[in-house]
Amino acid sequence: MDLVIEGRAFVKGRLSNWCIGIEDGRIVEVAKNLKGEEHLDYGQMLVLPAAIDPHVHFRDPGLTAKEDFSTGTMAAAFGGVGCVLDMPNTLPPATSLASLKEKQLTIAGKAWTDYGLFAGCVPGVKLEEMAPHAAGYKMFMGSSTGKLLVTEDKERARIGHAVKATNKVLSVHAKEEALLGKEREQDIRDHLRNRPYQAEVAAINKLSAMGCRVNICHLSSAAGLGAASGHNFTKEVTAHHLFLDRDNERGTFAKVNPPLRTREDRFALMQAFLDGRIDMLASDHAPHTIEDKSQEFDIAPSGMPGVETQVPLMLALVKKGSLPLDVLVRAMAERPAEVFSLNKGRIEKGRDADLMVVDTRALGGIKVNNLHSKCGWTLYEGYDAIFPHATYVRGRRVVEDGAIAGERGGRDVVVGP
Ligand code: DOR
Ligand code: ZN
Ligand code: ZN
Repeated sequence: MDLVIEGRAFVKGRLSNWCIGIEDGRIVEVAKNLKGEEHLDYGQMLVLPAAIDPHVHFRDPGLTAKEDFSTGTMAAAFGGVGCVLDMPNTLPPATSLASLKEKQLTIAGKAWTDYGLFAGCVPGVKLEEMAPHAAGYKMFMGSSTGKLLVTEDKERARIGHAVKATNKVLSVHAKEEALLGKEREQDIRDHLRNRPYQAEVAAINKLSAMGCRVNICHLSSAAGLGAASGHNFTKEVTAHHLFLDRDNERGTFAKVNPPLRTREDRFALMQAFLDGRIDMLASDHAPHTIEDKSQEFDIAPSGMPGVETQVPLMLALVKKGSLPLDVLVRAMAERPAEVFSLNKGRIEKGRDADLMVVDTRALGGIKVNNLHSKCGWTLYEGYDAIFPHATYVRGRRVVEDGAIAGERGGRDVVVGP
């Protein structure tokens, strides 16, 4: 065995002292005692499956002043994320076989974590040929950053049919374009008025006709949660819709789609998350430069970073006793692995050795200077968080003790190295 990691590991739904035996990047044995060429004993620290973030925008290719695959995956690794699924609204957008392959070539060799790429849906898109390269499909029903948009019900139905044939998941930005206002915006309340919760509910209600596996991205309202619950959809929530609402007066920096809504919406989502009623924690990491965000409210782009902070924010809730650890592990690792068919997400024989080591004594405040996204800002300055002590991707240590600790060796989970 190449490596044995010992600690209070989360195995079969609970914490206990285990040795995790790793060979060629896979977990080959989980036992009380194991011997390996290298043996790392983390004592009382927790060993958890590394998180899988099923929704990031790493801006590579084409928008790399905001982020690139190196900085994005580095931020992910420091936040306990071992695998990310990247959205297609890059430049050019990943909406054809050629652009998806080009994106794969552009980012090859840059990643610190593993990754998969979404293929984007636009009218007329040829979905089938992208399937061997795609971790899933993404459809915007309402406009946001970039030009990807499908507004016609007939075209949406065609896409649903085609996605079903691939047996992949369709992640949906579920906001009905026809219900989005176009009034000039001066602040976050105007933004919210232009993007009412009814647009979320209407879009979700339409999705039951899709026929394929549907994943609702970034649920943002109590009503949207209610609409999604009646169907066989999987659901994502972001940390920003759990920790922030329209009363967070941060101007353009808090401008995001879907918008931050009311306290009541936030509390309803948080309660659902704590109860395990939401499948996945997803950052929707959407970095924009400070310069981009410093424009007038109306033209400033929507989106905020979050891939590095979402798990640390949640680990602080676990430490305080408000979030059960098993609920977090399910939402950050087990469910994303199940939904996107990844051989990750659990500490068990045969899975990739993607792990995070957590020292629960390390509660501290988030400081923007310690973060790694190229964008250089966060809305969580000073928030309580526990950053993982170490992150492993397929048995390789990537981060330890707040520093890069190994080589970058991230690979595409669909097409391989
Ligand atoms: O606020 C957002 N930003 N929402 C999206 O749907 C896209 C994202 C981005 O790419 O900036
Ligand atoms: Zn979205
Ligand atoms: Zn997004």
